[in-house]
Amino acid sequence: MTSTTHPRLHALPKAEVHLHLEGCFEAATIAQWAQAEGVALPRPQEDLFRFAGLADFLAFLDLACGLACTPQRLFDLSYGLSQRLADNGTGYADVIFNPTHWHAWQGRLAAMIDAMDAGFRAAEQDGLPQVGLCVSLLRTQTAAQAIELVDTLRALRHPRVRALSVDGNEATAGRTGPRFADAFKRAADAGLRRTVHAGESSGPEGVWDAINLLGADRIDHGVRAVEDAVLVQVLADCGIPLGICPTSNVVLGVYPSIAAHPIETLRAAGVRVSLNTDDPALLGASLVGEYALCRETFGWNDEDIRAVARTSIEASFADADTKADLLRALQAW
Ligand code: ADE
Ligand code: ZN
Repeated sequence: MTSTTHPRLHALPKAEVHLHLEGCFEAATIAQWAQAEGVALPRPQEDLFRFAGLADFLAFLDLACGLACTPQRLFDLSYGLSQRLADNGTGYADVIFNPTHWHAWQGRLAAMIDAMDAGFRAAEQDGLPQVGLCVSLLRTQTAAQAIELVDTLRALRHPRVRALSVDGNEATAGRTGPRFADAFKRAADAGLRRTVHAGESSGPEGVWDAINLLGADRIDHGVRAVEDAVLVQVLADCGIPLGICPTSNVVLGVYPSIAAHPIETLRAAGVRVSLNTDDPALLGASLVGEYALCRETFGWNDEDIRAVARTSIEASFADADTKADLLRALQAW
């Protein structure tokens, strides 16, 4: 669902701020690489992207990412992600990647980032959108592993890397805000921004911890904040934006339908929300499609859509010039 189906939404100047490189594998690519590596797939190719919830989904990421074992494959995935951005008229994206899923690259973070950076750089040189990277911890890692990742990033100072992130399953990991507080503080001291998955597999308590313990500049999902009226008011007052992914939340079972999704309740309460795809290839989402879905389901008019797109740009970790250009184009949309 892109330029041909919704030309006006394709033309909408916008950023994407919650998008995982892990979620950008095509089924045919996985099948081809699995065959080359002699790895058995868990299901036939046509059913490959049927997931029984978040835990099943995260286990699949280990399999898919494990196949990306050469610099060329990481280059191809990164370039393909940029092409997907252009197909949706996206002007800039913050892309999350979590090193724990990419088994062939353990202990070689610098080489891994270089291979992705080469793909994004080639895409930018071909006129495709700009990308920043958010390097993610997994919720089940230890405090020591978190500090180690931050120290590696501090030593690397790679210009492509904008932020520290944490993702994974809070339902299996339990309350881990306190465990990661030191790592997030160190990241902030080193000039890195902070984005935190919370309020997807955790309730409002995960969102409180993201704000109070991890100093989140942005919250990925955050939707279950809606269960706590005080928290909704705090989010509206402090303006911390939520990077919301409606289709992902329905496919992975957080809500039974788009109609039951709380994005409209949060938006109406004054919370800053953006629309995103999370893991577009694996979950069957596109950014233009998410805007179209919300317009149809919640009756958003052009000004509602413009406000959500404005939040996406303001909430992004793009440089000041890129943001200003996108905001100017959005005003003229
Ligand atoms: N990693 C990739 N997608 C994710 C999601 N929706 N929640 C947590 N971790 C993820
Ligand atoms: Zn996510």
